[in-house]
Amino acid sequence: MKTDVVNRFIWYKGEIVNVNDAKINILAPTAQFGLNVFEGIPCYWNEERKQLYAFRLDDHYDRLLRSARLIQIECPYTKADLKKALVDVIKANEYDENLSVRQTLFVDGFGSWGSAEPVDMFVAPIPKRRTSAEYNKKGLHCCVTSWRRISDTTLSPRIKCGANYINSRVGQREALRNGYDTCVFLNDAGKVSEGPGSCFFMVVNGTLVTPMLTDSVLESITRDTIIRIAKAKGMPVVERTVDRTELYTCDEAFLCGSAMEITPVLSIDRYTVGNGEPGPCTEALHKAYLAAARGMDPDFETFVTPIY
Ligand SMILES: Cc1ncc(COP(=O)(O)O)c(C=O)c1O
Repeated sequence: MKTDVVNRFIWYKGEIVNVNDAKINILAPTAQFGLNVFEGIPCYWNEERKQLYAFRLDDHYDRLLRSARLIQIECPYTKADLKKALVDVIKANEYDENLSVRQTLFVDGFGSWGSAEPVDMFVAPIPKRRTSAEYNKKGLHCCVTSWRRISDTTLSPRIKCGANYINSRVGQREALRNGYDTCVFLNDAGKVSEGPGSCFFMVVNGTLVTPMLTDSVLESITRDTIIRIAKAKGMPVVERTVDRTELYTCDEAFLCGSAMEITPVLSIDRYTVGNGEPGPCTEALHKAYLAAARGMDPDFETFVTPIY
């Protein structure tokens, strides 16, 4: 049965239930301390083929399991279970539109931040049109936040753990308070890392440049996709440490992630990027990314999994 968003079905602890019936213990470590790991899995509707494609599903599950391993949450499900839960819940909602599917492993029960169990899962499809404002903008005005990105010496930025997002939050809230759309973080070394929910790329003299994963960056699937697409198109790509100065002098810049896809950055700290319009490389990469995500690029067919 087709559902409206407030009554959508979600997969919760092995059952498909109305989202309003999925209750969680308020003392659970996930509720109190963000003790969970999760994925936001993009699914794109292909109107021509009347098909919904999940993008890089196996890579999302590999990262989910790496995240769980790092913070010692034991996943009670196999990869086949993870996938079946996602397919079942999308089918239950009969979705034929673009989605972000939140798939979260969480620590339930009455324990504390040190607890290892009980671990369970929810899978909640979120129609893309419902994502927050900054994800729907045509271009972003950014600042460099005064907060530093979490580092591998404290809370690993490489994984997707709920608690990590409070670092994202303080940067994002500072940006909004000061009249920007979003921010770019510097890492402990004062080098460029990433956005609050996105990775950073810039174009310098025709070369695509992005910080290295060791510069305090999430192991982003969109970042990896863009690097592969650019290389396939013959565009030079360099992963290297990026200085703050380069933010103010680059030719093009964009933030990317499963939620915001590829969104041009129009200014940083009020320095105009390029001519202040989305740049040609950014636009070409966005188009190529969407083609791959909709299963329309034969070079990247293995990236998509049909749901129906
Ligand atoms: C901090 C951070 N960096 C990068 C990304 C992009 O990751 P992905 O491309 O896997 O969605 C995200 C996505 O949520 C993020 O939170």
